[in-house]
Amino acid sequence: MTSTRKSDTILTHAGRKPRANHGIVNPPVYHASTILFPTVAALEDVGKPFETYRYGRQGTPTSDAFEEAVSAMEGGHRAIAVESGLAAITGALTAFLKAGDHLLMVDSVYGPTRIFCDKVLKRFGVETTYYDPLIGGGIAELIREETRVVFMESPGSHTFEVQDVPAIVEAARARGVVTMIDNTWATPLFFRPFDHGVDISLHAATKYMVGHSDAMMGVIAARTEAHFITAKTGTYQLGHCAGPDDLYLAQRGLRTMAVRLRHHQDAALKVAEWLQGRPEVSRVLHPALPDDPGHALWKRDFTGSSGLFGVILNPASKPAVDALLDGMELFAMGYSWGGYESLIIPTHPEKIRSATTWKAEGPTLRLHIGLEDVDDLIDDLARGLERLNRAAAA
Ligand SMILES: Cc1ncc(COP(=O)(O)O)c(C=O)c1O
Repeated sequence: MTSTRKSDTILTHAGRKPRANHGIVNPPVYHASTILFPTVAALEDVGKPFETYRYGRQGTPTSDAFEEAVSAMEGGHRAIAVESGLAAITGALTAFLKAGDHLLMVDSVYGPTRIFCDKVLKRFGVETTYYDPLIGGGIAELIREETRVVFMESPGSHTFEVQDVPAIVEAARARGVVTMIDNTWATPLFFRPFDHGVDISLHAATKYMVGHSDAMMGVIAARTEAHFITAKTGTYQLGHCAGPDDLYLAQRGLRTMAVRLRHHQDAALKVAEWLQGRPEVSRVLHPALPDDPGHALWKRDFTGSSGLFGVILNPASKPAVDALLDGMELFAMGYSWGGYESLIIPTHPEKIRSATTWKAEGPTLRLHIGLEDVDDLIDDLARGLERLNRAAAA
């Protein structure tokens, strides 16, 4: 596809080849393990790595369709679909790290990524140092001779701190260190890591790409061919691959992602602003709000915001917060986000940090604003806050 096309057009068309598929709009779902070769010569001709179909785990036209679309959005060399967002993260990290290496990991990172570093990478001789999400160019002081990867997640999915990605990339590049980012919150629609020099962009496609809370999917996008070969070799050797039906759902989700995301964005901002005006609320954690500490960086680097943000309540007891949450009618509780439906959960970011201290005045909630009518959502929250007040007064 022509590189000047706008992102909505790319999302609608990339990865689809109707002319090669009897004119049918959507790519077919190939269920494949074995791929047959007509001759010994063809069987033995390995060709250029990862360019031909040789075995189901390595790739099929179904994985190609999704990967091509993601890669076109990200603007990098190629993408690799895997079976979950966590597999994308762990697959990329293990592809680039070896025993004796040092990893710089953002302190606000998604919990299971931290667990992988502390439990698995440590066991294989990789040392992790957590760094302040707001460190910016100061990361240079933490880079050692053995540092191989700097990992970012911006904004963090619990505290919503925005990182100075270009400053971190500049410091890392000066020392030949690979940079990776978990770009799930923004998607390539609202933040394009490769434009800022990041080497690897990672997604829990389970969230906005799939968009309907019905499939697990991860994707690794690589800026250059060399980064792609390292990441693909590593994930292939570990046996990562995504299932064909989930790949189909993910590429179908992409077609409407721009429309959904803009609705998530507008509705989330409306709810966030409403929450800011409530007496029960101490702070709203949303970088697109002008008074958020991360707003200036967000405004400089992002072109939009998604539906996920946090809210810190004024001090309240656990039974009062539980009363708020238990009676919600539209907001459901569950450990995900990015689907069409609204979600709310209590979070405890202060418990999962080591390099920095996270201070909250009261209980923290994380909200995902779905595609329901926003006034109905605000009504649901208003009644939740009334339950909180009643329980506090009892
Ligand atoms: C920011 C972030 N990254 C990665 C993941 C992992 O994705 P998955 O659940 O698809 O493994 C999640 C899941 O919640 C997430 O919130």
